[in-house]
Amino acid sequence: MFCLMEAQIESLCLKVLKEIAACGDEAQLEALRVRLLGRGGELTAFSDRMRELSKEEKPRVGKILNESRTALTSALEERKAALVAEQEGKAFAGVDVTLPGTAFPSGALHPITQLMDRATQIFRRMGFALADGPDIETEWHCFDALNTPADHPARNEADTFYMPDGRLLRTHTSSIQIRTLEQMAPPVRIIAPGAAYRRDEVDATHLAQFTQMEGLYVDENVTLGDLRGTLEFFFRELLGGDAEFRFRPHFFPFTEPSFEVDVRTAGLAGGRWLEIAGCGMVDPAVFHAVNARRGDQALDPERFSGFAFGFGLDRLAMIQSGVPDIRLFTDGDQRFLSQF
Ligand code: PHE
Repeated sequence: MFCLMEAQIESLCLKVLKEIAACGDEAQLEALRVRLLGRGGELTAFSDRMRELSKEEKPRVGKILNESRTALTSALEERKAALVAEQEGKAFAGVDVTLPGTAFPSGALHPITQLMDRATQIFRRMGFALADGPDIETEWHCFDALNTPADHPARNEADTFYMPDGRLLRTHTSSIQIRTLEQMAPPVRIIAPGAAYRRDEVDATHLAQFTQMEGLYVDENVTLGDLRGTLEFFFRELLGGDAEFRFRPHFFPFTEPSFEVDVRTAGLAGGRWLEIAGCGMVDPAVFHAVNARRGDQALDPERFSGFAFGFGLDRLAMIQSGVPDIRLFTDGDQRFLSQF
């Protein structure tokens, strides 16, 4: 037997299902849910009217009512999920989320700068301070004060970049020794990394601009032993504890005695001896030249002695990393640089 209330519930369901399907946004859908299933809602109202039904009708209508509530609730939920998906689809319109992302390459310091920083840190641990000087230098700072006479080959026009006013691109960082001694009195303990320039033919082992690191230590009782100890400690820290050294007598105008330093370690260049630095005890002629300029006797050669050293950072980087051609450091080729 079919009663009126069953028919009413059925037609309400059919009508509402159409409304749900046509619903365009979530707020509208929520309003519809409340109108149907909320307290006093259209479907809820039938539950209140169950009293009016006969004993036989009650269970049947109650079942239909429950089924209708379940069916409408899930229709509402499905429509809501569809609306949310539609919204998201709009937000990503025109975006292909399967495309690979944009990579942001991170930069790094140039290998020579990295080496300079490491070298500086090792010397700083030994109490050396950083000093500086101009790349465009006077002949006096670059040569005369460094006991380098006018006829010395280093001063040759053909080997050096001279400015019209007589200044020049410094041929070594040793000019910073002079700049420092003009300003400071002993104890002096400095390192000075920087560019040096020579009119060299550019090839696999030469650049017209390269990078040096200078060192100077002036105090009472500074000995050759201090020089050896300092350089050997430094290069062992940088290249490895098994490094062996050879101090070969050499000549520099501004040090006496002078040496070239060779290093040998199993890990580098197949264990061959490599020439890595120039050094020596500061020649008293340097103290005299700076005293004359200062107009005092701050650098009394009877009281003070010192050592100085200099080495090429480009060359050291080549040795350390097995780089066969120095020009790679200035070519700016990412494929080379990104390996450091
Ligand atoms: N200035 C020297 C060069 O460029 C190196 C050096 C520095 C030697 C300090 C002795 C002392 O070759």
